[in-house]
Amino acid sequence: MIEFSQVSKTFDGQRAVEALDLVIPQGELAVLIGTSGSGKSTTLKMINRLVEYDSGTLRFAGEDVRHFRPETLRRRMGYAIQSIGLFPHWTVEQNIATVPQLLNWPKPRIRDRVTELLALLHLEPEQYRGRFPHQLSGGQQQRVGVARALAADPDVLLMDEPFGALDPVTRAALQDELRRIHALSGKTIVLVTHDIDEALGLAQRIVLLERGRIVQQGSPLELLTRPASDAVRDFIGRSDIGIKLLALERVAARARQGEAAAGEPIAAAATLREALSAFVTRGADRLPVIDAQGRPAGTLHFADLLPPAP
Ligand SMILES: Nc1ncnc2c1ncn2[C@@H]1O[C@H](COP(=O)(O)OP(=O)(O)OP(=O)(O)O)[C@@H](O)[C@H]1O
Ligand SMILES: [Mg+2]
Repeated sequence: MIEFSQVSKTFDGQRAVEALDLVIPQGELAVLIGTSGSGKSTTLKMINRLVEYDSGTLRFAGEDVRHFRPETLRRRMGYAIQSIGLFPHWTVEQNIATVPQLLNWPKPRIRDRVTELLALLHLEPEQYRGRFPHQLSGGQQQRVGVARALAADPDVLLMDEPFGALDPVTRAALQDELRRIHALSGKTIVLVTHDIDEALGLAQRIVLLERGRIVQQGSPLELLTRPASDAVRDFIGRSDIGIKLLALERVAARARQGEAAAGEPIAAAATLREALSAFVTRGADRLPVIDAQGRPAGTLHFADLLPPAP
């Protein structure tokens, strides 16, 4: 779907991205991660031609991105930027409707879509649609930015730290929402973050950049269990790799079926990391498990947190 082959970009004689080889298949959720200045935003912006690359080839749907008109790319790729970038003199509704307007959607359809997206991002539609960006908090502006990226139901979502200004609760809710949107729509999503937990929780593929080069790419499990270097291990957080591994797996995968236990239950969909926390805060070594409908779904023992013997 998106194919970088030896792509480089230089600004004023300084390499921002160097000989990048990266393939993001259709429907994948890929996360670009790395320290500040490592080339994440530049990589993202080359995909929709906000930044033109110098050498190599970058293909979208099999075609060099330079063969697409920028308007076509903008229509097919939703883009939520790091600095929010809402138009200050436009209302929330007008901001979200940017691409649908370009596409000449009928007014009622635009209105319905704006209502739907505001509700999706937990902004009460009637309260917020007529406001201007300066009348919103930073986190609310960021959510409007995400709504704008989603508006015309694009094939690809490019998101540059879309949840950066959000409190942990709203951030977790929006991460869940993004996971849901991805699961339902099968969109190709490229997301930039510097939050390793966000990357591990969302990504199918993590691409770790350093000084414009890929240091390692792979699934969250691969990065945690087979870091390519000490630098990767440090970036992931050497001391709590075990905890992060627990965050990748759900209680349902380890619960002992047909066994009952007393006490406050934990959801089958909770992660093993959440289960660890529940064991410790409750001082229990067994937790009853319930499914999404609240029915008993077995028991999790503290020892079940250990990886199964090979
Ligand atoms: N328009 C530009 N003009 C000149 N230099 C630029 C430009 N955009 C980026 N750079 C430089 O290219 C390098 C990579 O920048 P980029 O914005 O891609 O980093 P990043 O990984 O997104 O960082 P951050 O996490 O801080 O957002 C940096 O050294 C930056 O200073
Ligand atoms: Mg950036």
